[in-house]
Amino acid sequence: MAPTSQLLFKYKTVVRKAKTSKFNGVRQNPLEYFKELYSKENALAQANIPGACCVSTIGKDGYPNARFLALKDINDKGFIITGPLSTRKGDEINSVPKVSLTFWWPIIEVQIRIQGNADQISPEQASKYFHERPRESQLTSWASRQGQPLDNPASLIKKLEEVKLQFQDKEIPCPKDWGGFCVIPKRIEFLEFSDERLHTRILYTNEADKWTTEYLQP
Ligand SMILES: Cc1cc2nc3c(=O)[nH]c(=O)nc-3n(C[C@H](O)[C@H](O)[C@H](O)COP(=O)(O)O)c2cc1C
Repeated sequence: MAPTSQLLFKYKTVVRKAKTSKFNGVRQNPLEYFKELYSKENALAQANIPGACCVSTIGKDGYPNARFLALKDINDKGFIITGPLSTRKGDEINSVPKVSLTFWWPIIEVQIRIQGNADQISPEQASKYFHERPRESQLTSWASRQGQPLDNPASLIKKLEEVKLQFQDKEIPCPKDWGGFCVIPKRIEFLEFSDERLHTRILYTNEADKWTTEYLQP
């Protein structure tokens, strides 16, 4: 077996090849650039979670609130996130629709920060995303009221068993409360991490449907 140092060297070489080279010009469309980097990370990542992003909302008490959500899709308008809506995130987004999404992709060493306005998706779209989830996750959505206090974990397991029986051999409908948002980006910043801290930072800003770009100092 190769010594650890050799394996590490190999790994670093793979990572370096995967990274885009420094200051090599900017793409016109940041959503396309996002997809390009996502594919690179996804192809190399051992665990299939590059789509997990930190979603920050503005709390009703003024404190920011952050949690990880799965990024479900990217369309021409923006970035789709889903989940139950009678929750802290749902309430906060409904009261202030300004949201940020933050990604860190450790294999290609890229951080992406997105700020934008969240638009609720239609019930039809929500249902489509709901049915793309594994059956177990769909059942849990019916059994659990996300964010509500849980006095007794055994009661949740019992509820899940009841829900399993209820929907046995049937298609599971999308719960009324389940939905999602499309985060329409206003600003997207890509940071390509560099060991000597000379990171490449490119900020895209959208004004009246046009993207402008600028480099930022690291
Ligand atoms: C990797 C990962 C992915 C997650 N994806 C989702 C998701 O897509 N939707 C969701 O509602 N919660 C998801 N969660 C749970 C959230 O982090 C969070 O606990 C939940 O949405 C409640 O947040 P809230 O109380 O601010 O509404 C995920 C957690 C992790 C760690």
